[in-house]
Amino acid sequence: MSPQPVDTRAQDTQPVDTRRVDAREKVTGAALYATDLHPDQLAHATLATATIGRGRIAELDVSAAAAVPGVLLVLSHLDHLDLQSPGFVMGGGYGVQSLQPLLDDRIAYRGQAIALVVAETLTAATEAANLVRARYETEPFAATLDSPGVERIAQPTAIPLPFLADIDVGDAESAYAAAPLHVDATYDQPAQHQNPMELIGATVWWRGDTLVVHEGTQSAGAIRHGLAQQLGIDAANVEVVSPYTGGGFGQKNSLQIHIAPLAVAARRLGRPVQLVVSRAQLFHHTSFRPASRHRIRLGADEHGRMVAAIHEVEHQTSRHDLFPLMYNEITARLYGIRDFRGRQTFARMDTQTPGFMRAPFEHPAAFAFESAVDELAYAANRDPLEFRLANDTTVDPVSGEPFSSRHLAQCLRRGAKTFGWSARRQRPASMRAEDGSLVGWGVAVGAYPASIVPATSHVVAGADGRVRVEVDGHEMGQGIRSTIALLVADDLGIDVRHVDIVVGDTRVATQHLTAGSWGTASALGAVHAALRELRKQLGADVGGPVDVSAAVRAASRDTVEARAATLGPGQTEQDAERARQGHPVIAGPEFPGYSTFSWIAHFVEVRVEPTTCRIRVPRVVSVADCGRVASPVTAASQVRGGIVWGIGASLREAGEVDPRYGGFLNASLEEYPVPVNADIGTLDVDFIGEPDLRFHPVGVKGLGEVSMVGVAAAVANAVFHATGVRHRRLPIRIEDVL
Ligand code: MOS
Repeated sequence: MSPQPVDTRAQDTQPVDTRRVDAREKVTGAALYATDLHPDQLAHATLATATIGRGRIAELDVSAAAAVPGVLLVLSHLDHLDLQSPGFVMGGGYGVQSLQPLLDDRIAYRGQAIALVVAETLTAATEAANLVRARYETEPFAATLDSPGVERIAQPTAIPLPFLADIDVGDAESAYAAAPLHVDATYDQPAQHQNPMELIGATVWWRGDTLVVHEGTQSAGAIRHGLAQQLGIDAANVEVVSPYTGGGFGQKNSLQIHIAPLAVAARRLGRPVQLVVSRAQLFHHTSFRPASRHRIRLGADEHGRMVAAIHEVEHQTSRHDLFPLMYNEITARLYGIRDFRGRQTFARMDTQTPGFMRAPFEHPAAFAFESAVDELAYAANRDPLEFRLANDTTVDPVSGEPFSSRHLAQCLRRGAKTFGWSARRQRPASMRAEDGSLVGWGVAVGAYPASIVPATSHVVAGADGRVRVEVDGHEMGQGIRSTIALLVADDLGIDVRHVDIVVGDTRVATQHLTAGSWGTASALGAVHAALRELRKQLGADVGGPVDVSAAVRAASRDTVEARAATLGPGQTEQDAERARQGHPVIAGPEFPGYSTFSWIAHFVEVRVEPTTCRIRVPRVVSVADCGRVASPVTAASQVRGGIVWGIGASLREAGEVDPRYGGFLNASLEEYPVPVNADIGTLDVDFIGEPDLRFHPVGVKGLGEVSMVGVAAAVANAVFHATGVRHRRLPIRIEDVL
């Protein structure tokens, strides 16, 4: 497989600035995902998994599995696989967790892989995996925040990194005690699972001493360097190819636990091996959003000015890794609250290691905090929109520095106008629809830190007039190809159809982790710098269109190339080297002299049907400030997706845990419901569109994650407005509003 140029020929009729450059490939099936590949001699793998919450394997019998016709190999801890731990990606390593299954008899959580079965067909592999027999010695375990046996550790004690320190600005306890108006409430949110359309899976083979890995990922660099560590080989001998990823959402941000065993199987068999982790196994195979509990205390003065906030949060993590907490990073910045105290605590229990899931900290944090703000607005007898506007700030209360850009009040005002907020009655349960449904209108805001990582790009201009861009970054559906292609076309004044983009491929570029909504800003910065260099090489002044073909031919060459490697403010070449290996190396959101966040305001209407009590969401209006909108089509799509996720999080999604069994009970899309088309009404998305040139050379901030932040609070606030009942636990379901 060679990197595929993007064919945009069929899109002639679309205006350039609304083009999604890989749309045609995706809808025609021409875009090949990692497990769409079927190389000759492909063997199929499946996993057998543990059925206890914790303990050890006393006896493992794979003889029946091995006897199934077509079975080629069964790998388990009995085979003494020569593999190292990849280390946890947030602990300096590469992996989704540090625990590599199949190495010993320990069972750390229900659903842990105990054997990898490889067969000629998927059917044979599946049948055989069901015949793997284990006898266990069980041990007590903890699976929920309320289970006995959960170990609690203050984050700064366990991970003494400055950016994970507790936040203390002023004296929040005293300011809270002295405030005339108070809210003190605790908000609970369940574990949730990303469930991207493309399941986790890989196709791997050996070409001589080189390991070739095709896997949909956000971090080809972590896979490459992590596998090198696990297998004891040179990273130069690992190729990772990931041109398309069918949804990442944080689940695909590191080296998954199945790839090293697949590499071992492929080497032993001398054949390509493919594994697609089933939807049911996915819930225990990779990361998920940890359950979290937030106690929020807010104080306001008699004028409705918030004067104190205390945000204490705990979230679940595994016994073997500490997935860090960064919840109060945004709650300390939503408003101009001078006295703020944030405390974050790990709750260690017996699960696989949880991790990043879209708006990983910001969504749960905003649900809790923006619900509390709504409660305080009602306690102050103020309109929740007006209350928020009255508490706006232009200065980052934590650093004391200005925000590089913050158009949140404008988001609120514009959204309110579009939504028709002025017709809202303040009193709960005072608005009804014609069919008798209770109508509720809620508002909430969100923020997400803007950051940037070291990135590289290589631009090749051809005598045929085409421009090829090889870049450090991954396409997981967010539209990074489109944003880059549009930037190049706009900059050089060429047709976007003459731009080819290659992403997610370690053969052409080092690959940093694409996550945290920094992908676009980082890649565009590197491409922008390479274009400056290319113009120099082509003898073209900055600004104005370039006749690429003529300029390349004038240089008497077939191609003219330029490279750029960019760093975030304060970053070093050493940071860049770590980033190239897939480690998170992040500059921001605090920069010298300013802080940078993306902002959003959401307005939600809910209707609660009188007889069934079903909660519907007929319309949402969202206005985002993400700096310059680099690609209008994909940006609007990102926000719609974030809103849908927010509706799912507030009304549908929960990983159900039975403390007697551990693991997640509802490991399927039948029992883990996500919103479907019929659940979604009108989504009205708008952007402020002011470039943030202080933060970024072309003015972009992040968007993918901020779009979800605050949606759940806006829904819950709307349910309160509709019914007069405040819900502090997600999801809010029919039985809660009956
Ligand atoms: Mo994101 S949840 O950091 O991919």
